[in-house]
Amino acid sequence: MCGIVGYIGPREAYPIIIEGLKRLEYRGYDSAGVALFDGTDLKVSKTKGKVADLEKRSEQEITKHGSVGIGHTRWATHGVPNDVNSHPHISNSGDLVIIHNGIIENYESLKQELISRGYTFKSDTDTEVLINLIEDVKKQEKVKLGKAVQIALNQVVGAYAIAVFDKNKPEEVVIARLGSPLAVGIGEDEFFIASDASPFIEYTKDAIYLEDEEMAIIRFHKGIKIRKIKDDSLVDPYVQKLQMNLEEIEKGGFDHFMLKEIYEQPKAITDTYRGRLLREEAIIKMAGIEDNMKKFLNADRIIIVACGTSWHAGLVAEYIFEDLARIPVEVEYASEFRYRNPIITEKDVLIAISQSGETADTLAAIKLAKSKGAFVFGVCNVVGSSIARETHAGAYTHAGPEIGVASTKAFTTQITVLTLMALRLARAKGTISSSDFRRHLLELEMIPQKVEESLKSDAHIKMISDIYKDVGNFLYLGRGYNFPVALEGALKLKEISYIHAEGYPAAEMKHGPIALIDENMPIVVIATRKGHYEKIVSNIQEIKSRKGKIIGIVTKGDVQVKELADHVIEIPETFELLSPLLTTIPLQLLSYHIAVLLDKNVDQPRNLAKSVTVE
Ligand code: G6P
Repeated sequence: MCGIVGYIGPREAYPIIIEGLKRLEYRGYDSAGVALFDGTDLKVSKTKGKVADLEKRSEQEITKHGSVGIGHTRWATHGVPNDVNSHPHISNSGDLVIIHNGIIENYESLKQELISRGYTFKSDTDTEVLINLIEDVKKQEKVKLGKAVQIALNQVVGAYAIAVFDKNKPEEVVIARLGSPLAVGIGEDEFFIASDASPFIEYTKDAIYLEDEEMAIIRFHKGIKIRKIKDDSLVDPYVQKLQMNLEEIEKGGFDHFMLKEIYEQPKAITDTYRGRLLREEAIIKMAGIEDNMKKFLNADRIIIVACGTSWHAGLVAEYIFEDLARIPVEVEYASEFRYRNPIITEKDVLIAISQSGETADTLAAIKLAKSKGAFVFGVCNVVGSSIARETHAGAYTHAGPEIGVASTKAFTTQITVLTLMALRLARAKGTISSSDFRRHLLELEMIPQKVEESLKSDAHIKMISDIYKDVGNFLYLGRGYNFPVALEGALKLKEISYIHAEGYPAAEMKHGPIALIDENMPIVVIATRKGHYEKIVSNIQEIKSRKGKIIGIVTKGDVQVKELADHVIEIPETFELLSPLLTTIPLQLLSYHIAVLLDKNVDQPRNLAKSVTVE
């Protein structure tokens, strides 16, 4: 993980780097640092803690002037978060400076070799090994920095996005990528380097995304040259026009990004089906599906791979695909799938779901499936991300940038895309009648408005949150389509409030969790009228007789659950299949309010990162 930013051009680099790091803090926030060339020397300031701590520290440590600089916000892998392990790292001579996102797997053997040649190390990081390796190559081979980086990287096993410069030649920054994202913003005689485009969006809309195994030498006044790291061949830069706006990555009056993103869901869902769901014509248009219809229709099965919240969206999709399109579906954690020698054939379709499009395990699962001949389809949010590029075809969720670490609008838009796909395939297979198909289109089109209505329970949910904020455990129960939502609700609470929570299929409660229930245990039960309602009511009764506190998520106008539950939160009526898009909303708000009441850092929960680019 980690976020990296760099600047080379006529402006002051420091404010661009600091603001950029703040936007990239979702990638890691346990330490931060900056290195600037101030016209005469290299100035480095770094610290354990957040970018705000770095600002305070650099205030005292450095002059903050210079128009070449690099900065880093860290999510620790090798070495605990402390000042010394923070990036940037400097080579033994003091000339070269580096920031790095990724892991150098063979760093230990490289380190021993460098130690035997007299190098010393201050930190426990793999990155300090890499910068000294580059320095060693530069000296031994008597080559320029770019060449030294290239030779060094060819000795490295692992993943990286790096930016390096030499204080003796500060008009040049060398960058490279393998497995970790890296974008270059192209301004007028200035260049911005960053893990994603958000740090430079107000300066330029022109960006180059480096591909894996590519490096670039960026020279002030002279431009950018991209080469393949392995064979040194030149690559033609492909400049993309960015669609992102500054407003999209700002809080816009909300206290937290998470809350803003929860409230953005009506728009995000609409943006996701716009142009695809054509109700009047009674069709669904998705180029990625149309172009590959045969692959889907001839598939023996669909395998869905994902991590975290995206995996929960995959579980919902399993129910939807099997129900509507009658195609067998298996859902796998990408991290398990890739390591367990799975049986994959050319008749399998693999769907990879990822908000960031950068999750290392999901990416590796895709590569594995491709190597076995499977057709791979991506459902990503970030345009141009590694997963979007690595898959044969795909469909974007148009959620807009999701910055809060706890995923919200990505989840509901993923379900929206997957529902559209299932409906389209069901129509092609003839497993849904044309009237049912129309009814589903109509209902899906009404979901944003119903999400809007669900958001109106916000104040009521805040009040419930206040009652339960101090408990140690929560249980979430749901059945059918809402079992994955129970998992997602529990995950949200764990992630941001650090309260232990478990999601369970309601009927499984009797096989274990029931032992935990007493008068101190709040149990969130998703009990919408359509989904096995009577069975859920029985489950609620079982909880009640053990004195558990029941928070019911119910359909508007519900009577039965209302009588039994301690609290109910109403959502509008919809089809069972679409209900996860609504039942999720109160669970997001519940976790949000509990975390805020507990004074937790909602947008940057401890130990987590938004984009997990390490395996
Ligand atoms: C991290 C994030 C989660 C996310 C998961 C998968 O754990 O904190 O919010 O669901 O990664 O990320 P992806 O970008 O692949 O959806």
